[in-house]
Amino acid sequence: MDKAQMVIPSSLREGGTDPIFRIAGEAAKKTQELGAEAVINSTLGALMDDEGKLVTMKSVFDTLKNLPNDLIAGYSGLAGQPDFLNDVVKACFKDYQPEVGFIKAVATPGGTGAVRHAFCNYTEPGDQILITDWYWAAYHTIADENRRSIVNFPLYNEKGTFNLDAYKESMKALLKKQGRVLSVLNTPAHNPTGYSITDGEWDEIIAFVSEEANNDPECKIILLVDLAYIDFAGEGDEARAFMKKLTGMPHNVLTLYAFSCSKGYTMYGLRNGAIICVAPTESIAEEFANACTYSNRGSWSNGTRGAMETISKIYSDSELYNQMIAEQTFYKGILRRRAQAFCEEAQKCGLEIVTYSDGFFISIPCEYSREISDRLMEKNVFIVGLAKGLRFAPCAVSEEKCRRAPALILEAMNEVLSEKA
Ligand SMILES: Cc1ncc(COP(=O)(O)O)c(C=O)c1O
Repeated sequence: MDKAQMVIPSSLREGGTDPIFRIAGEAAKKTQELGAEAVINSTLGALMDDEGKLVTMKSVFDTLKNLPNDLIAGYSGLAGQPDFLNDVVKACFKDYQPEVGFIKAVATPGGTGAVRHAFCNYTEPGDQILITDWYWAAYHTIADENRRSIVNFPLYNEKGTFNLDAYKESMKALLKKQGRVLSVLNTPAHNPTGYSITDGEWDEIIAFVSEEANNDPECKIILLVDLAYIDFAGEGDEARAFMKKLTGMPHNVLTLYAFSCSKGYTMYGLRNGAIICVAPTESIAEEFANACTYSNRGSWSNGTRGAMETISKIYSDSELYNQMIAEQTFYKGILRRRAQAFCEEAQKCGLEIVTYSDGFFISIPCEYSREISDRLMEKNVFIVGLAKGLRFAPCAVSEEKCRRAPALILEAMNEVLSEKA
């Protein structure tokens, strides 16, 4: 990279288009040229209908558009609108709100804002944040932008389930180095793998974290659960069962949730979400709310009023609420059928994927992912290449295309691998 001219050296950034948006741009061009049928555009992380058009929930947008203008145009409170703060807690926990612990929420622009506040208020500048090796790239960006960094541990063990041993080892090493660890677990329906930590795995994580915290009462452990895809996981609300367990730990352990309205309510561009704590004491909850409210003021002031009012209206009107749940359930069913089609065909043709449970993405572990992604483009298949493999997005393509894709991916992979051999 060039030398910094006017920006400080640590703010010198690469320009150019984000690789995901570049591939999506290429896919859009090909679609114009050949028609939607001929192109598999599995790039963006948003739910699309079978024709490739963004899904939007009627219950959400009818509500938003019927709000009086002043409820859309006005500023919200710095911490978020009081009703929204109650409603987002309901939206997060549903029937699985823990009985023990002190819960508080602060509104943020999407889950991204919540991740930012956790990074900035629960780690020191220069600290490392513990993250799985398959991860959402923005974690790195948010850490780097705020002068922190990330350190990875392998998400999977050799059985393809949560690598508890590696998690323990990395947590211990970081505790020894920093005395405080912020660990991000993106579950259920992890991006980019679709993995969901099981309730049994949560029991083991909780036992381990509690033991570490008891062994060193001076250390601090913060568990940030990134829930961006929760409303697309499991049957009904069962994917929230772990939330009841994630409390009642030693007082030097704090649970945080990054809640997003982007996917579950199709509010992507409306920038709405919250950071929520389940704190062991009232004063730790108070400290959380004060720090995150101050961070709101110091970074973007306040969130999107109309988006908060929309959620509150939906949660205060049972008919509207049921309509919203019916829509979520309908789209969850579509996503599940698409993902199932992809997984079945992958198994049939022998394409390896990492363990998938739920969600917008399925990952294919491989070397030369960028080259394979380029080769696939020649076959009119558009898939993002990541450091550890390829990310297929069943959220973005029809069930029929999900069935077609695995054989095409395998073919491109074999071509590239044989050229490299
Ligand atoms: C893993 C993960 N976390 C958080 C988010 C936050 O999204 P938003 O800021 O739109 O709520 C995303 C969005 O892509 C994501 O993939």
